[in-house]
Amino acid sequence: MIVIDGPAELSGELKVQGAKNSTLPLLAATVLCRGQTVLHNCPRLSDVDTAVRILEHLGSRCHWEEGSLVVDNSMTCCQVPPDLMRGMRSSIVFLGAIVSRCGEAELTFPGGCELGPRPIDLHIEALEKLGVEIQESGGCLHCRAPEGIQGTYISLSFPSVGATENVILASVCSQGTTIIANAAREPEIIDLCAYLNRCGGRVYGAGESCVIIDGVKELFGCEHTVMPDRIATVTYMAAAAVTGGNVTLRDVDNTHILPMLSPFEQAGCSVRQLGRALNIMAPRRLNAVRHIRTMPYPGFPTDAQPVVMSMAAVGRGTSIFVENIFENRYKHAEGLQRLGAKIKVEGKVAIVEGVEQLRGAPVTACDLRGGAALVVAGLAAQGRTLVEGEEHIRRGYEDLAGSLADLGARIREVEDSPGKME
Ligand code: EPZ
Repeated sequence: MIVIDGPAELSGELKVQGAKNSTLPLLAATVLCRGQTVLHNCPRLSDVDTAVRILEHLGSRCHWEEGSLVVDNSMTCCQVPPDLMRGMRSSIVFLGAIVSRCGEAELTFPGGCELGPRPIDLHIEALEKLGVEIQESGGCLHCRAPEGIQGTYISLSFPSVGATENVILASVCSQGTTIIANAAREPEIIDLCAYLNRCGGRVYGAGESCVIIDGVKELFGCEHTVMPDRIATVTYMAAAAVTGGNVTLRDVDNTHILPMLSPFEQAGCSVRQLGRALNIMAPRRLNAVRHIRTMPYPGFPTDAQPVVMSMAAVGRGTSIFVENIFENRYKHAEGLQRLGAKIKVEGKVAIVEGVEQLRGAPVTACDLRGGAALVVAGLAAQGRTLVEGEEHIRRGYEDLAGSLADLGARIREVEDSPGKME
């Protein structure tokens, strides 16, 4: 668990980690590339460990060289065992890459954060259009592409991030041209396509809603630097905001942060974007963040909703949240209420009446970003907050507690029960 003695006042500088949601599809993409890939700025996370274990099971050799992950690709197997599939949701993006490389793949339904139903129908429909035959039996997906992957026109009914990545990965080495309409536009898709193109792929329009993929014969591994993690960035910004802090974040891509700036401005923070750095200065007491509606990029991201709710919990006035992406993404509200927040949740809407002071209490992280939100709220709370379920947080943050401690928070990870802590 994570133990926080609040309230904190954060100050100082921090380098932001590489993006989890970019690294996972990049690792799946290495399946398509002959030879060696070196991923620089690769975050050390438990989800990355799971992806590495999948790659090793498939026959690749992986090792770390300081902050870089080296993957030597050689495919000896086209199955992903159920325990690794269950480990995380993005294990599903291995499907497109494996079936394209081997002509077949066998895996089970993926796991991941419990954010409500997370179907993979869009992935399956799109792969079938590309010529993949998929049979399901007992939770296992048996996939074959007897004629190879055939380029085609795919129109996604929703701009799903994972389905867009899966189609790109399946079709980058294929016969013909694939066009994806209503593709997801998230920056992580741009990062994936930049890597694939550097490896010899021909993918055009990444970051737009129409992506065109001219199939090539083969790809060769290369060196690539993982983009900065925009959700880790906004998490540290929220931590600075709730503590009246003054924090400078380095290695930030400021263009990715723009869709998330409005609640910080509404709350009264001053945010200065300086090249690849960002400085945030927060007032003693935040204002409400007003109205947040989560949307696909370039809208306000669902992954940032929980940490911004922690800001709203201590802001002066009422804030309204509408969660449009996942059905069950307010689990952190219960933990925030335990800390004294006033939150009413009804379906996809949450109404937050900001209170002057939160009080420390034991709380449980139910998912990755919800866990981060509880840590952020714990920094603002008077007294001791214990956040259990730290394993969720480790999936996406490289040493969250250590980084916040470097900024002056009294926070640490402990293995033991609270009674034995002192
Ligand atoms: C990615 O998940 C991210 N994960 C999530 O980050 C993020 O919350 C999400 O995109 C939305 O931005 C990774 O990149 C590894 P989707 P993904 O497919 O790809 C529905 C985090 O905390 N849908 O865009 O799974 C789905 O149920 C995580 O870092 C279908 O109905 O998201 C959801 O309501 C959690 N059928 C919506 O689309 C499908 O076949 C968005 O899902 C696929 C998706």
